[in-house]
Amino acid sequence: MTRPPESTNAATLAAYDVAAGAYAEGTPAAPPDRVTSVFDLLATHVRPPATLLEIGSATGRDADLLEERGYAVTRTDAASSFVNLLRRRGLVADRLNVLTDEVRGVYDVIYANAVFLHFSRGELVGVLARMLPHVRARGRLVFTVKGGTGEGLSTHPLDLPRHVTSWQEPALRQLVSSTGWQVLELTADTSGDTEWLTVIARPTV
Ligand SMILES: C[S@@+](CC[C@H](N)C(=O)[O-])C[C@H]1O[C@@H](n2cnc3c(N)ncnc32)[C@H](O)[C@@H]1O
Repeated sequence: MTRPPESTNAATLAAYDVAAGAYAEGTPAAPPDRVTSVFDLLATHVRPPATLLEIGSATGRDADLLEERGYAVTRTDAASSFVNLLRRRGLVADRLNVLTDEVRGVYDVIYANAVFLHFSRGELVGVLARMLPHVRARGRLVFTVKGGTGEGLSTHPLDLPRHVTSWQEPALRQLVSSTGWQVLELTADTSGDTEWLTVIARPTV
C-alpha cells in the first residue's frame, strides 16, 4: 500500500514558531484594501452580530477589525507562538490545528485569511470536509489563498521554509464544491504583486 506523503505543515508551523516576531513586525496595522474588501463582501452575506471562528489568527489584526465591525470572534492558531502573543495582549486565544485537532462548536462564519495556502491539495480536501459540521446551515466559510500554479517551499519573506500551494480558479471551485460546499463567491484580487483568491461558500443543503 502507498503511504500518503508526509505533511509539510509541521515545518511550516515550526517556521512560524521561530519567526512570529518577524511576522508580526511585517504585518501592517492597517489591513490591505483586499482584506477590507473581503470584510465588506462578508457583510453582504452575514451581518453582525454573528459568531465567527478565525483559523490562523496570527497577530490578531483581522480578528480585532472583525470585532470592531460587531462579529463575536473566536481567535485560534496552530502555532503556539501566535497563541501566546495573543494571550500576552490579554485576549482569549485557543490552540487549534485544523489538520489534526477537532473543531469545537458551530459558528455563523469560519474565516481563514492566508492559512489554507499552507496545505497541500489533499490536506485542503480534508480540512474543508471537516469544517462542514461547524458552520450553521445559513452560515458561511470564508477563506483566501494565493492565485497561481504550483506548490512547494517558500522562504519569502521570513527566510524560513513554509509550504505554499497556489490555486487557479476552476480547480479551487471544483475542489470546494466536491467537499460539500456551495461556492457563492470566488473573487480574484490582482491589485498588488500577488494574486489573492477569496472564496465564500455555504454548506450544500
Ligand atoms: C500567512 S499566516 C496568516 C495569518 C493571518 N491570518 C493573517 O492574515 O495575517 C498563516 C497562518 O496560518 C497558521 N497555520 C498554519 N498551519 C495551520 C494549521 N494546520 N491549523 C491552523 N492554523 C495554521 C499559521 O500559524 C499562521 O498564523
